[in-house]
Amino acid sequence: MKVLVAGGAGYIGSHTVVELLAGGFDVVIVDNFINSEPFILDNIRKVSGKSLSFTELDVTDKNALFSFFEKEKDIAAIIHFAALKAVGESGHQPLRYYQNNLVSLFNLLECAEKFNVGNFLFSSSATVYGQAEVLPVTEQSPVIAPESPYGNTKKIAEEIIRDVTKATNLRGICLRYFNPCGAHSSALLGELPRGVPNNLVPYITQTAAGLRQKLSIYGNDYNTPDGTAIRDYIHVVDLAKAHVTALNRMAGGKQKEQFEIYNIGTGVGYSVLQVVKAFEEANNLKLNYEFAPRRKGDTETLYADTTLANNELGWKAELGLNDMMGSAWKWQEGLAKT
Ligand code: UFG
Repeated sequence: MKVLVAGGAGYIGSHTVVELLAGGFDVVIVDNFINSEPFILDNIRKVSGKSLSFTELDVTDKNALFSFFEKEKDIAAIIHFAALKAVGESGHQPLRYYQNNLVSLFNLLECAEKFNVGNFLFSSSATVYGQAEVLPVTEQSPVIAPESPYGNTKKIAEEIIRDVTKATNLRGICLRYFNPCGAHSSALLGELPRGVPNNLVPYITQTAAGLRQKLSIYGNDYNTPDGTAIRDYIHVVDLAKAHVTALNRMAGGKQKEQFEIYNIGTGVGYSVLQVVKAFEEANNLKLNYEFAPRRKGDTETLYADTTLANNELGWKAELGLNDMMGSAWKWQEGLAKT
């Protein structure tokens, strides 16, 4: 079965491609390298030992995408990772975020319809829950109007995919990611932030590597046991495997509904300080950090109820915080050598 992975050279995309290849899927990647690097494709080939079909293409370019689909006639599924993802930046560049994240979606959905693709898997985000009143959050928890344009593109995209699946034969699954981190055990794939990282784990690894002076922990006055904010960190390899499970479910006709949503997390929340300690212990290092004011837009506590993913989808996270921190550091060390 041929799967198009849009954004397959990116952080989550590249790990997913490796798992798809291991699962016997025929993978074609498109990426415009806006937030990824060509060497990742070579590393996917090394890790998987398989050949790879790649086309450099911006999925917001409708003509280019349609020509691509005309050549690759038998694509049976699309996984859409090709989005901009910096929460803070999206507040300063809302139009760029809406344009990129929604036009790419329209184009891919139009191609799905025109070329009889059948299955559409979308990267959504736990950001759609905002600061939930009841924890852990289930897929039935209220979805709020996200504070950031980035978050709003995820909410809107879910609604668009739901409506399209209602009106056509397209099957859809949205995976709501919690906090992806960690890297491939080979240290050949991992997160490649451009400029100063926004996310906690790459900031930690860059600080440990001496690229940043110290980590600022945003807020130690939250209503949590140690005062720092709590998130559900999920190993990127576990997350990648969730895509393969979801694809098998869709393509195997096993969905209960034509459009489904799943939380993809571990179900366990850790505070920022716990993550820092776990990093120090996993790698036998000391991290330079300080407490700083809360970051605007951050929520206090968010973690997933994964019952539906575990029981209905048949996927469960296997790797813990120690693996996330160990692999993230191995990847960072590897980068320093290149
Ligand atoms: N943090 C710091 N210092 C840093 C970076 C982060 O203390 O330098 C803290 C944040 O304040 C937060 C926690 O670490 O409490 C996690 O922050 P991240 O930026 O790593 O992740 P977020 O939870 O803010 O956002 C992530 C994804 C979004 C997604 C959201 C869903 O980056 O794409 O989860 O909840 F929308």
